[in-house]
Amino acid sequence: MTFDFIRHDVNEQKAKSRYRQLVCNSVASQGKQIVINGKSYLNFSSNDYLGLNNHFEINKAMQEGVDKFGVCASSSSLVTGYHYAHQALEDDICQWLNKPKCLLFSSGFAANLALFQALGKNEQSHFYLDKLSHASMIDGAYHSKAKVKRFNHNNIEHLTKLLSNSGENATYSPNKLIASEGVFSMDGCQAKVSELAQLAKSEQAWLYLDDAHSIGVIGDEGQGSNTFADIDITMATLGKAMATSGAFLTCSEELHEYLVNFSRHYIYSTAISPAIAWATRKSIELVKREHWRREKVTELSALFSELLDPEVELVATTSSIHAIIIGDEKKALLVSDKLKEQGIWLTAIRPPTVAVNSSRLRVTICAHHNTNDIKYLAESINKAIA
Ligand SMILES: Cc1ncc(COP(=O)(O)O)c(C=O)c1O
Repeated sequence: MTFDFIRHDVNEQKAKSRYRQLVCNSVASQGKQIVINGKSYLNFSSNDYLGLNNHFEINKAMQEGVDKFGVCASSSSLVTGYHYAHQALEDDICQWLNKPKCLLFSSGFAANLALFQALGKNEQSHFYLDKLSHASMIDGAYHSKAKVKRFNHNNIEHLTKLLSNSGENATYSPNKLIASEGVFSMDGCQAKVSELAQLAKSEQAWLYLDDAHSIGVIGDEGQGSNTFADIDITMATLGKAMATSGAFLTCSEELHEYLVNFSRHYIYSTAISPAIAWATRKSIELVKREHWRREKVTELSALFSELLDPEVELVATTSSIHAIIIGDEKKALLVSDKLKEQGIWLTAIRPPTVAVNSSRLRVTICAHHNTNDIKYLAESINKAIA
């Protein structure tokens, strides 16, 4: 058979309990309640951290955007696809995060590939990535021409050591980029942002943070990692707490100009929907204004860790994401299935998304959950893991 590795690889995936399948939400799914194959579940696996998806004001702004600009940008940004809605959204983001420039991308995955590939022009670029960095950062870095080094997770000493070795045997002074995630997607813990920023400054490196899971959730007005330090380059996706779709990068005027001229992912791709850009302006307004959403996530998260049995291995976090480490893939699937029987949807996360023997339940606590939901969740997890 042509491409016969396909069947082999899928079968192997099944044998290792790593097989993945699409499940379709029925039209009856709404907010925290999802309906799959006719059964209703409390959803603890979504990234709608602030509970803003389907918010009537965002929906109204989306309809207004469709009326004003249409659904489609109809071209890449550099041809005729860059609309007033995009410019207005970029201005709002710059003002919100106090940054000189912003660039929109169709997804966070594309934005990460774009940045690493544009900056990794040759071997004089040295990238230092946290070991738990997202797949899109890793792909972007390794598909570039830069030298790539990975530092142990959140380990500033290890990073310092790697940085201090960077000039060894070099006849040039390298362009250094330190990269990490503001809040780590599979663990929920935060990067040591102030220490990373200080180190970057002293090493004349740039700091790049992927704020996919921080934007909206961290900071008094949801500004993410820029709350703790002035980050050189920030990427955040709009498809999680912001409840729309697409992504943005904030950076200096100079880097903006460079990306517009040299980033292949930006140049050769249709601009994001102007209607979505328009809706995202409303989303930012709500994120900044409605502090109660962040406060609720914090309160419910504290209650959750208080109610779990001490034997349950929970990664310490101040974000919406709470990882319960199970270890073995089969056991993680078994616990996830037991929870489904109790009407709780909690997807088991397995390798290669996480390291071997660290399969887990990734619980996301969102602003649309309530105290009773959390009590029921903790009770059910305690029973399923016992
Ligand atoms: C840390 C991180 N970066 C980037 C992405 C990709 O963003 P997007 O979904 O907008 O492509 C994700 C997840 O989706 C993520 O968790």
